[in-house]
Amino acid sequence: MRIVKSPTADLFDSLADTRQRTEPLAEGAAILRAFATADAPTLMASLQEILAAAPFRHMTTPGGFRMSVAMTNCGAAGWVTDLTGYRYDRTDPLSGLAWPPMPQPFMRLATTAAAAAGFPEFEPDSCLINRYDPGARLSLHQDRNERSDAAPIVSVSLGLPAVFLFGGAKRKERPRRVLLASGDVVVWGGPSRMAFHGVAALAEGNHPLTGLHRINLTFRQAL
Ligand code: SIN
Ligand code: FE2
Repeated sequence: MRIVKSPTADLFDSLADTRQRTEPLAEGAAILRAFATADAPTLMASLQEILAAAPFRHMTTPGGFRMSVAMTNCGAAGWVTDLTGYRYDRTDPLSGLAWPPMPQPFMRLATTAAAAAGFPEFEPDSCLINRYDPGARLSLHQDRNERSDAAPIVSVSLGLPAVFLFGGAKRKERPRRVLLASGDVVVWGGPSRMAFHGVAALAEGNHPLTGLHRINLTFRQAL
């Protein structure tokens, strides 16, 4: 008997594709498709605890602009920006207290993803948590406030899909555009560590995990 797959089945697969697979992005960079899908509800529960102590806020760039992405942090240090510049700070400027500690499920996911992408030594001390509302975007930038560039960046997408821009070491290199779905993890390190990257303006939608938003967890070895 010949098994014929119906077009409807194909459509269903593309809507709810939870198969884990690795897609190379550049040297030292890969997308781990659906790597965080199974853990996503646990990650969201941990996030709610973080938010109770350190809520999302729109920070100000050194140039005086309000960022469209709302941010908070957990871990020993958090990434912050204000009129004086970008930096990692051990305390949350809103509360004056230490950032909430990195939850175990965050740590486990980040280290297993890094290892799966070829970075078994990764030990993040910081997680920047980004919330994108429709229209929010992140312009092309390099992650360069970390003390060393020896460790990779591990970036976890949850909720609404987004177009991720991934370029080269120079701003003028035209970035690739890749769609990131909930559960996808991007890892970039080694020769790709200083790659310019960003996120295109978020389209409206409603996702069972996050509602009207996209959440991104970005793990770094910052200190
Ligand atoms: C970032 O570069 O900090 C965030 C990337 C993303 O939201 O996917
Ligand atoms: Fe970044």
